Amino acid sequence: MLTGRRVLLVISGGIAAYKSLDLIRRLRERGAAVRCILTRGGEQFVTPLSIATLTGERVFQDIFSLTDEAEIGHIALVKECDLVVVAPATANLLAKMAMGLADDLAATALLATDRPILVAPAMNTRMWDHPATRANLATLEARGVHRVGPNTGWLAEGEVGEGRMAEVPEILAAIEGLLAGGPLAGRRALVTSGPTVEPIDPVRFIANRSSGKQGHAIAAALARLGAGVTLVSGPVALADPAGVRVVRVETAAEMLEACRAALPADVAVCAAAVADWTVANRSAGKRRKQAGAPPPVIELAPNPDILATLAAGPQRPRLLVGFAAETENVVGNAVEKRARKGCDWIVANDVSAGTGAFGGDANTVHLVTASGVEDWPALPKTEVARRLAERIAAAVQP
Ligand code: PMT
Repeated sequence: MLTGRRVLLVISGGIAAYKSLDLIRRLRERGAAVRCILTRGGEQFVTPLSIATLTGERVFQDIFSLTDEAEIGHIALVKECDLVVVAPATANLLAKMAMGLADDLAATALLATDRPILVAPAMNTRMWDHPATRANLATLEARGVHRVGPNTGWLAEGEVGEGRMAEVPEILAAIEGLLAGGPLAGRRALVTSGPTVEPIDPVRFIANRSSGKQGHAIAAALARLGAGVTLVSGPVALADPAGVRVVRVETAAEMLEACRAALPADVAVCAAAVADWTVANRSAGKRRKQAGAPPPVIELAPNPDILATLAAGPQRPRLLVGFAAETENVVGNAVEKRARKGCDWIVANDVSAGTGAFGGDANTVHLVTASGVEDWPALPKTEVARRLAERIAAAVQP
C-alpha cells in the first residue's frame, strides 16, 4: 500500500500517455495522492480534464501561470511529493533532464526537485537506440535517476522493437519499491541470469542448461526490497520480473557489454551460466554436410570472464556476488573461485546430474564469504533468492 505517499507524475508527449491515466487510478487505489504536470506534448494525447478527474487535483501545465505560482508554485510542487515519476518520458524530456534545461514547467520541476525520480522511457526504437538518448540515460542514471523499462513489443508506428513504455504493473512495482522504503531503496543492483549462447553458424549454437530461474528470482527479490534492478539475461523462457529492467543478450561478449552499460551499481550478482568459450571459426553461412567429407572441426576461443572483469574494473560494485556451478569438491572449488575472480561472495551449487540445480525449481547452496562457509538447506530457488537478497541488504547498509 502507498497510503499517504505523494507522487508527482509528469506526463510528456507520447502515445503511451494513455497508460498514465490507468497508472493514476492504480496509485490512488493504493492510497497515494497524485499530482500531475502535463507538458504541451502530453496534452496532445490526454486531456487535463481526464487527469483532473482521476487525481482529484488541478493539473499543472504552465510555468508562468500566476494562479498556480500564487497558490502552490513550482518549487512547492516538487517539495510536496515523495517521488517524481516521469511516464511517459520522451527522448526530448530525457535530453532536457540530462542537459539541465528549464524551459517549461516539467523541465523546471525536474531540475528543482531533490526527491527521487523514476523515469519510464517511451519512444521509437531508433530514437531509443540513438547514441544521444543512450548517453542522456547514462548521465541521468549516474546521477541516481531510477528507470523502469522500456520493453520490447509493438510500437505505435506498427513496428516491433525496444522502446515501448513499461506496463502499469511494472511501473507500480518500481514505485512501490522506491516508496515502500525497503532496505535497498535507492540502491542499484545488476543481476545476470540464464545461459549465453555462442553461434557456430547462423542456425547452430553452443549453449548450456541454465533456465534463468535462479537469476530471475534474485532480480525479483532485490526489486522487492526496493533496489533499482537491471537484469542482463541470456535467452530464457521466463516472464520478466515485475519492476525490473531487463536487457536481453545472447553471447558472453554481449552480456559483458550490457553489464558494463548497467554500471555504476551498488551490488552485482552474477548468476548467469556464461559460456567459457566462444566459437573461433564461426561460419557466416550454414555449415553444409558434404558426402564423404569429415565432420567440421569447431575451434574454441576463451570468452571474457564477466565476473572477474567487473571485479577488476574501475566501477567495481561495492558488493560483488558470483556463483559457482560445480560437480565435485563444490565448496573447495568455490573458495578458490572467490579468490581467483576477486568477488566478495560466492554462492556455490552442485550441478551434477540429478540435483536439478540446472532448470529445476529448488537449489542447495553454500554461501562462501570472507568469514567462512554457510551451508543452506535445500530450498525453492525463490527462497534462496529471498534469503540472499536479505543478506545483501544487510551487507550494503551504510
Ligand atoms: O538458471 P537455472 O536453471 O535456475 O540454474 C541456476 C544456475 C545453476 C545456472 C546458477 O545457480 C549458477 O550456478 N550460475 C553460475 C553458473 C556458472 O557459470 O558457474 P561457473 O562456476 O562456471 O562460473 C563462476 C562465476 O563466474 C559465475 O558467477 C559466472 O556467472 C561467472 N562467469 C563464468 C564464466 C565467464 N566467462 N564469465 C563469468 O562471469
